[in-house]
Amino acid sequence: MSNLIIFPIKKIKGKISLPGDKSMSHRAVMLSSIAGGITEIENFLFCEDCLATVNAFKQMGVKIKLPVTPIPPRRTSGATGQASHKSQARKTKIIVYGKGLRGLKKPAQPLYLGNSGTSMRLLSGILSGQEFYTRLEGDESLTKRPMKRIITPLKLMGTEIKGKKRLSNEYPPLEINGSPKLRAIKYKIPVVSAQVKSAILLAGLYANKETEIEEIIKTRDHTEKMLKLFEADIKVKGLKCKIKSSALCSPEKINIPGDISSAAFFIVGATILAGSHLVLKNVGLNPTRTGIIDVLKKMGADITVHSQQSTANSLQSPENRTPNTENRGFEPVGDIEIKGSQLKGIEIRGEIIPRLIDEIPIIMLAACFAKGETKIEGIEELRIKEVDRISSLCYNLKKMEAEIKEKKSEVIIKGVGKLKGERLNSFADHRTAMTLAIAGLKAKGKTVIENSGCIKTSFPDFREKLKEIVFV
Ligand code: S3P
Repeated sequence: MSNLIIFPIKKIKGKISLPGDKSMSHRAVMLSSIAGGITEIENFLFCEDCLATVNAFKQMGVKIKLPVTPIPPRRTSGATGQASHKSQARKTKIIVYGKGLRGLKKPAQPLYLGNSGTSMRLLSGILSGQEFYTRLEGDESLTKRPMKRIITPLKLMGTEIKGKKRLSNEYPPLEINGSPKLRAIKYKIPVVSAQVKSAILLAGLYANKETEIEEIIKTRDHTEKMLKLFEADIKVKGLKCKIKSSALCSPEKINIPGDISSAAFFIVGATILAGSHLVLKNVGLNPTRTGIIDVLKKMGADITVHSQQSTANSLQSPENRTPNTENRGFEPVGDIEIKGSQLKGIEIRGEIIPRLIDEIPIIMLAACFAKGETKIEGIEELRIKEVDRISSLCYNLKKMEAEIKEKKSEVIIKGVGKLKGERLNSFADHRTAMTLAIAGLKAKGKTVIENSGCIKTSFPDFREKLKEIVFV
């Protein structure tokens, strides 16, 4: 397994743009595949997770043109070597030839989705509306992700879907026997999860009447936004969302904004390294994702957001659409400017948690360099991500001499202001690995991160981007 070796640096300096947002890249492929028309997806994220989605639709007969032939995720227990897909990571455009809502065909083989929970949960929604049987498989980590949260509502809609039963939950592989005419449901989602919401909305495209869902706390709304972009019959009001079956129409071009979850590593890196000055260009600034900026600013970070003229929330009518007009999937975009600064500890809890769920590992690192104590509550969902991220971060940061108290659903971090370089383990989780890499930039001595190949899951260009901005 590949090791990533990091030495301390002085500061971060530069202006870079980032690869496309992972959540939006998945959704763009899915909706383009079941829409009418051809969609060009610019700044698509060529990572293992998104390629798993691409390969699934190719196996179901969708023609998808990529700049180079993608290598499907390998059947491994998690991490893989990092060097092999470098060239792919730099290509950005794919073209999807949509088959329409009813145009997918039965795959000859099970769909292997690697490490990607988003692929599995969202695809389950689409497959619920198909007249054929599918089996969804994944790597060792994915087979430990709970699926009852999607199985319950999809069964209510009339899908035959089952996983492997263990204790009181069900886990991949999933077997799905869809139905072309699903029952519309009215459903209050008991967990806080955009993936569950999205699976139901996508199944709602195949239902007999209007499907109505309600969230407890607002989660990322890329599915709703992108469904609007594809002219679906969808209405969103606060925590409620209604969708009716309707044909999807390609917007012809989608330009995916840079991934704020990838940006987060560099935002924190530039914040904790005194004298840093970094500009991240064209980052997605959807308010359901910008919790990281709010929290860091509250901690005293020097962050300025330069918003661009945004097309967010405004649906362009087809008459006004010029084929060459770039759009950003109607998602707000902007540049983020960060300068090194001293942080202070704060309490983080409640409605902001889903707005920064994937950034908690890197916030935990920031807290190690804040004055005073940082408490993060209500983060039990972190225990069922690609790995138990509370445990993986506590194990590694403690090894670096951080002071952290870990409870079932919270962490309390005392800012120690320094860390020690160590031999660390990503536990095959991409966000753990990248957090530790940033920790290594500020730590004393050499840091070795074992099992770092997993970074390809979401950010294959991480090392190259980092090299562009470090000042030794
Ligand atoms: C995602 C939603 C989040 C997030 C994941 C991507 C998505 O998961 O953690 O990385 O694209 O919908 P949950 O919705 O399960 O919290």
